[in-house]
Amino acid sequence: MISFLRLTVALALTIATTAAPSAIEPFVPHAPENLNNAVATASLSTAAASLGYLQCHSLATGRIFGYVRNAYNSYGEYIGVNPSTIPSDVAARLLVRVDLAAGGEGPVNVGVQNAPSRTYPFFGAVAGENGPNLGNNHSYVFVVGTGDESTPGSAPSLLSNSFTQATGKRRKAASAVWKFNATSGEVKPTWINEDGNAVDVTVGYLNGAFAMTGNTTAFEKYYDDEDVTWLKFVFSTN
Ligand SMILES: *[C@@H]1O[C@H](CO)[C@@H](O)[C@H](O)[C@H]1NC(C)=O
Ligand SMILES: *[C@@H]1O[C@H](CO)[C@@H](O)[C@H](O)[C@H]1NC(C)=O
Ligand SMILES: *[C@@H]1O[C@H](CO)[C@@H](O)[C@H](O)[C@H]1NC(C)=O
Repeated sequence: MISFLRLTVALALTIATTAAPSAIEPFVPHAPENLNNAVATASLSTAAASLGYLQCHSLATGRIFGYVRNAYNSYGEYIGVNPSTIPSDVAARLLVRVDLAAGGEGPVNVGVQNAPSRTYPFFGAVAGENGPNLGNNHSYVFVVGTGDESTPGSAPSLLSNSFTQATGKRRKAASAVWKFNATSGEVKPTWINEDGNAVDVTVGYLNGAFAMTGNTTAFEKYYDDEDVTWLKFVFSTN
Protein backbone atom coordinates (compact mmCIF):
# COMPACT_ATOMS: atom_id res chain seq x y z
CA MET A 1 0.00 0.00 0.00
CA ILE A 2 2.85 2.36 0.71
CA SER A 3 3.70 3.99 -2.52
CA PHE A 4 5.35 6.78 -0.59
CA LEU A 5 8.15 4.42 0.22
CA ARG A 6 9.09 4.76 -3.39
CA LEU A 7 9.96 8.29 -2.57
CA THR A 8 12.45 7.53 0.12
CA VAL A 9 15.30 8.55 -2.09
CA ALA A 10 17.48 11.47 -1.29
CA LEU A 11 14.68 13.95 -0.92
CA ALA A 12 15.68 15.65 2.27
CA LEU A 13 15.32 19.39 2.32
CA THR A 14 18.25 20.87 0.56
CA ILE A 15 19.81 24.27 0.72
CA ALA A 16 20.99 25.29 -2.67
CA THR A 17 24.63 26.13 -2.83
CA THR A 18 24.40 28.14 -6.00
CA ALA A 19 25.19 31.80 -5.64
CA ALA A 20 23.53 34.54 -7.67
CA PRO A 21 20.49 35.56 -5.66
CA SER A 22 17.84 36.71 -8.03
CA ALA A 23 15.45 39.47 -7.37
CA ILE A 24 12.01 39.02 -8.82
CA GLU A 25 12.21 39.85 -12.45
CA PRO A 26 9.48 41.10 -14.67
CA PHE A 27 7.84 38.36 -16.65
CA VAL A 28 9.60 37.69 -19.92
CA PRO A 29 8.04 34.87 -21.89
CA HIS A 30 10.73 32.48 -23.07
CA ALA A 31 10.91 31.16 -26.58
CA PRO A 32 8.41 28.35 -26.94
CA GLU A 33 9.95 24.91 -27.39
CA ASN A 34 6.99 23.47 -29.18
CA LEU A 35 3.45 24.26 -30.08
CA ASN A 36 1.90 22.94 -26.88
CA ASN A 37 4.20 25.07 -24.85
CA ALA A 38 3.45 28.11 -26.95
CA VAL A 39 -0.29 27.66 -26.56
CA ALA A 40 -0.01 27.11 -22.83
CA THR A 41 2.23 30.09 -22.24
CA ALA A 42 0.19 32.39 -24.39
CA SER A 43 -3.14 31.51 -22.84
CA LEU A 44 -2.17 32.31 -19.25
CA SER A 45 -3.02 35.90 -18.58
CA THR A 46 0.45 37.16 -17.85
CA ALA A 47 -0.53 40.80 -17.86
CA ALA A 48 -2.33 40.50 -14.55
CA ALA A 49 -0.02 37.99 -12.93
CA SER A 50 2.24 38.75 -9.99
CA LEU A 51 5.55 37.00 -9.42
CA GLY A 52 6.41 35.45 -6.10
CA TYR A 53 7.45 32.40 -4.13
CA LEU A 54 5.37 29.78 -2.37
CA GLN A 55 6.25 29.85 1.30
CA CYS A 56 5.35 26.79 3.38
CA HIS A 57 3.70 27.57 6.71
CA SER A 58 3.19 24.68 9.10
CA LEU A 59 -0.47 24.46 10.09
CA ALA A 60 0.51 22.98 13.46
CA THR A 61 3.03 25.63 14.50
CA GLY A 62 2.42 28.54 12.13
CA ARG A 63 6.13 28.54 11.38
CA ILE A 64 7.58 29.09 7.92
CA PHE A 65 9.63 25.98 7.28
CA GLY A 66 10.49 26.31 3.63
CA TYR A 67 9.52 27.09 0.09
CA VAL A 68 8.60 25.11 -2.96
CA ARG A 69 11.85 24.53 -4.78
CA ASN A 70 12.51 24.86 -8.50
CA ALA A 71 13.32 21.16 -8.79
CA TYR A 72 11.58 17.79 -9.06
CA ASN A 73 12.46 14.52 -7.37
CA SER A 74 13.06 11.45 -9.52
CA TYR A 75 9.26 11.00 -9.78
CA GLY A 76 8.77 14.40 -11.34
CA GLU A 77 7.20 15.78 -8.17
CA TYR A 78 8.03 19.25 -6.87
CA ILE A 79 10.23 19.24 -3.78
CA GLY A 80 10.88 21.73 -0.99
CA VAL A 81 13.71 24.00 -0.01
CA ASN A 82 14.72 25.20 3.42
CA PRO A 83 14.15 28.77 4.39
CA SER A 84 17.38 30.51 4.92
CA THR A 85 18.79 33.87 5.73
CA ILE A 86 21.41 33.17 3.09
CA PRO A 87 20.32 35.17 0.05
CA SER A 88 21.52 32.47 -2.33
CA ASP A 89 18.71 30.32 -1.02
CA VAL A 90 16.39 32.50 -3.06
CA ALA A 91 17.79 31.06 -6.28
CA ALA A 92 16.49 27.63 -5.32
CA ARG A 93 12.89 28.73 -4.88
CA LEU A 94 10.21 28.16 -7.44
CA LEU A 95 9.12 31.50 -8.88
CA VAL A 96 5.43 31.44 -9.75
CA ARG A 97 3.00 33.74 -11.53
CA VAL A 98 -0.36 34.15 -9.87
CA ASP A 99 -3.24 36.34 -11.02
CA LEU A 100 -4.07 37.48 -7.51
CA ALA A 101 -7.31 39.22 -8.42
CA ALA A 102 -8.72 36.34 -10.46
CA GLY A 103 -7.49 33.87 -7.84
CA GLY A 104 -9.60 35.66 -5.28
CA GLU A 105 -12.70 34.96 -7.35
CA GLY A 106 -12.15 31.31 -8.11
CA PRO A 107 -9.53 28.71 -8.94
CA VAL A 108 -6.87 29.79 -11.43
CA ASN A 109 -3.79 28.40 -13.08
CA VAL A 110 -0.45 29.23 -11.55
CA GLY A 111 2.41 29.63 -14.01
CA VAL A 112 5.99 28.73 -13.22
CA GLN A 113 8.65 31.24 -14.21
CA ASN A 114 11.73 29.09 -13.49
CA ALA A 115 10.37 25.60 -14.08
CA PRO A 116 12.92 22.77 -13.90
CA SER A 117 11.52 21.71 -17.27
CA ARG A 118 10.09 24.23 -19.69
CA THR A 119 7.87 21.47 -21.01
CA TYR A 120 5.80 21.86 -17.83
CA PRO A 121 5.13 25.58 -17.29
CA PHE A 122 2.15 25.17 -14.93
CA PHE A 123 1.96 24.33 -11.24
CA GLY A 124 -0.53 21.51 -10.91
CA ALA A 125 -1.21 18.15 -9.35
CA VAL A 126 -1.45 14.57 -10.53
CA ALA A 127 -3.46 11.64 -9.15
CA GLY A 128 -1.81 9.40 -6.57
CA GLU A 129 -2.14 5.64 -6.43
CA ASN A 130 -5.86 5.69 -5.47
CA GLY A 131 -6.97 7.65 -8.51
CA PRO A 132 -7.95 11.24 -9.24
CA ASN A 133 -10.94 11.51 -6.88
CA LEU A 134 -10.39 13.02 -3.46
CA GLY A 135 -12.82 13.06 -0.57
CA ASN A 136 -13.20 12.20 3.10
CA ASN A 137 -10.43 9.58 2.93
CA HIS A 138 -6.72 9.02 2.33
CA SER A 139 -6.71 9.51 -1.45
CA TYR A 140 -4.18 12.12 -2.54
CA VAL A 141 -2.69 13.97 -5.46
CA PHE A 142 0.93 15.07 -5.87
CA VAL A 143 2.12 18.55 -6.77
CA VAL A 144 3.82 18.44 -10.17
CA GLY A 145 4.36 20.45 -13.33
CA THR A 146 1.82 20.23 -16.14
CA GLY A 147 2.34 20.95 -19.81
CA ASP A 148 -1.02 22.57 -20.42
CA GLU A 149 -3.26 24.59 -18.18
CA SER A 150 -6.61 23.05 -17.31
CA THR A 151 -9.89 24.93 -17.48
CA PRO A 152 -11.04 26.15 -14.05
CA GLY A 153 -13.76 23.85 -12.75
CA SER A 154 -12.95 21.05 -15.16
CA ALA A 155 -12.43 17.45 -14.11
CA PRO A 156 -8.89 16.06 -14.00
CA SER A 157 -7.68 14.82 -17.36
CA LEU A 158 -4.64 13.25 -18.99
CA LEU A 159 -2.67 16.49 -19.17
CA SER A 160 0.98 15.98 -19.89
CA ASN A 161 2.85 16.28 -16.60
CA SER A 162 6.27 15.86 -15.04
CA PHE A 163 5.25 12.78 -13.00
CA THR A 164 4.10 10.84 -16.05
CA GLN A 165 7.24 11.84 -17.90
CA ALA A 166 9.48 10.66 -15.06
CA THR A 167 7.63 7.43 -14.22
CA GLY A 168 5.82 6.45 -17.41
CA LYS A 169 2.59 6.19 -15.37
CA ARG A 170 -0.42 7.75 -17.03
CA ARG A 171 -2.41 9.56 -14.37
CA LYS A 172 -4.98 12.31 -14.53
CA ALA A 173 -3.89 15.81 -13.60
CA ALA A 174 -5.20 19.36 -13.28
CA SER A 175 -3.65 22.78 -12.86
CA ALA A 176 -6.49 25.28 -12.36
CA VAL A 177 -6.80 24.32 -8.71
CA TRP A 178 -5.46 27.38 -6.89
CA LYS A 179 -7.36 30.12 -5.12
CA PHE A 180 -5.83 33.20 -3.57
CA ASN A 181 -6.81 34.68 -0.22
CA ALA A 182 -5.77 38.34 -0.18
CA THR A 183 -6.06 38.53 3.63
CA SER A 184 -3.83 35.61 4.49
CA GLY A 185 -1.83 35.48 1.26
CA GLU A 186 -2.66 31.80 1.03
CA VAL A 187 -2.56 30.03 -2.32
CA LYS A 188 -5.11 27.38 -1.49
CA PRO A 189 -5.83 24.25 -3.46
CA THR A 190 -9.30 23.09 -4.32
CA TRP A 191 -9.53 19.82 -6.25
CA ILE A 192 -12.25 18.97 -8.76
CA ASN A 193 -13.25 15.31 -8.94
CA GLU A 194 -14.28 13.50 -12.10
CA ASP A 195 -17.92 14.04 -11.17
CA GLY A 196 -17.33 17.82 -11.05
CA ASN A 197 -17.51 18.10 -7.25
CA ALA A 198 -15.00 20.47 -5.66
CA VAL A 199 -13.11 19.12 -2.66
CA ASP A 200 -11.29 21.20 -0.08
CA VAL A 201 -7.83 19.75 0.26
CA THR A 202 -4.87 20.21 2.57
CA VAL A 203 -1.23 20.15 1.46
CA GLY A 204 1.18 17.83 3.23
CA TYR A 205 4.95 17.74 2.98
CA LEU A 206 6.45 14.26 3.15
CA ASN A 207 9.62 12.67 1.87
CA GLY A 208 10.50 16.02 0.39
CA ALA A 209 7.43 16.18 -1.87
CA PHE A 210 3.96 17.75 -1.61
CA ALA A 211 0.78 15.68 -1.46
CA MET A 212 -2.77 17.01 -1.09
CA THR A 213 -5.63 15.09 0.49
CA GLY A 214 -9.24 15.59 1.55
CA ASN A 215 -8.86 14.16 5.06
CA THR A 216 -5.56 14.58 6.87
CA THR A 217 -6.52 12.20 9.69
CA ALA A 218 -7.47 9.42 7.32
CA PHE A 219 -4.26 10.01 5.37
CA GLU A 220 -2.10 9.82 8.50
CA LYS A 221 -3.86 6.64 9.62
CA TYR A 222 -3.45 4.93 6.29
CA TYR A 223 0.13 6.04 5.64
CA ASP A 224 1.04 5.62 9.27
CA ASP A 225 4.75 5.20 8.73
CA GLU A 226 5.02 8.55 6.99
CA ASP A 227 6.12 11.73 8.67
CA VAL A 228 3.90 14.44 7.29
CA THR A 229 3.85 18.19 7.91
CA TRP A 230 0.51 19.79 6.99
CA LEU A 231 0.97 23.24 5.59
CA LYS A 232 -0.38 26.12 3.64
CA PHE A 233 1.29 27.80 0.70
CA VAL A 234 1.60 31.55 1.18
CA PHE A 235 2.43 33.80 -1.75
CA SER A 236 5.50 35.84 -0.91
CA THR A 237 7.44 38.36 -2.94
CA ASN A 238 10.56 38.08 -0.81
C1 LIG B 1 -12.23 9.04 -1.57
O1 LIG B 1 -13.41 9.76 -1.79
C2 LIG B 1 -13.71 10.01 -3.15
C3 LIG B 1 -14.94 10.89 -3.21
O2 LIG B 1 -15.99 10.29 -2.54
C4 LIG B 1 -13.88 8.67 -3.86
O3 LIG B 1 -14.20 8.87 -5.21
C5 LIG B 1 -12.59 7.88 -3.74
O4 LIG B 1 -12.74 6.61 -4.34
C6 LIG B 1 -12.26 7.71 -2.28
N1 LIG B 1 -10.95 7.05 -2.15
C7 LIG B 1 -10.80 5.94 -1.44
C8 LIG B 1 -9.42 5.38 -1.36
O5 LIG B 1 -11.73 5.40 -0.86
C1 LIG C 1 -8.86 34.27 4.18
O1 LIG C 1 -7.95 34.34 5.25
C2 LIG C 1 -8.51 34.92 6.41
C3 LIG C 1 -7.36 35.11 7.41
O2 LIG C 1 -6.70 33.89 7.65
C4 LIG C 1 -9.62 34.04 6.94
O3 LIG C 1 -10.18 34.62 8.10
C5 LIG C 1 -10.68 33.91 5.85
O4 LIG C 1 -11.67 33.00 6.28
C6 LIG C 1 -10.06 33.41 4.56
N1 LIG C 1 -11.06 33.46 3.50
C7 LIG C 1 -11.43 32.37 2.84
C8 LIG C 1 -12.45 32.58 1.78
O5 LIG C 1 -10.99 31.27 3.10
C1 LIG D 1 -11.55 11.92 8.52
O1 LIG D 1 -11.19 10.57 8.62
C2 LIG D 1 -11.17 10.10 9.95
C3 LIG D 1 -10.51 8.72 9.96
O2 LIG D 1 -11.01 7.93 8.96
C4 LIG D 1 -12.58 10.14 10.50
O3 LIG D 1 -12.60 9.64 11.83
C5 LIG D 1 -13.07 11.58 10.47
O4 LIG D 1 -14.40 11.65 10.88
C6 LIG D 1 -12.93 12.16 9.07
N1 LIG D 1 -13.17 13.61 9.12
C7 LIG D 1 -14.33 14.14 8.78
C8 LIG D 1 -14.38 15.65 8.81
O5 LIG D 1 -15.28 13.49 8.43
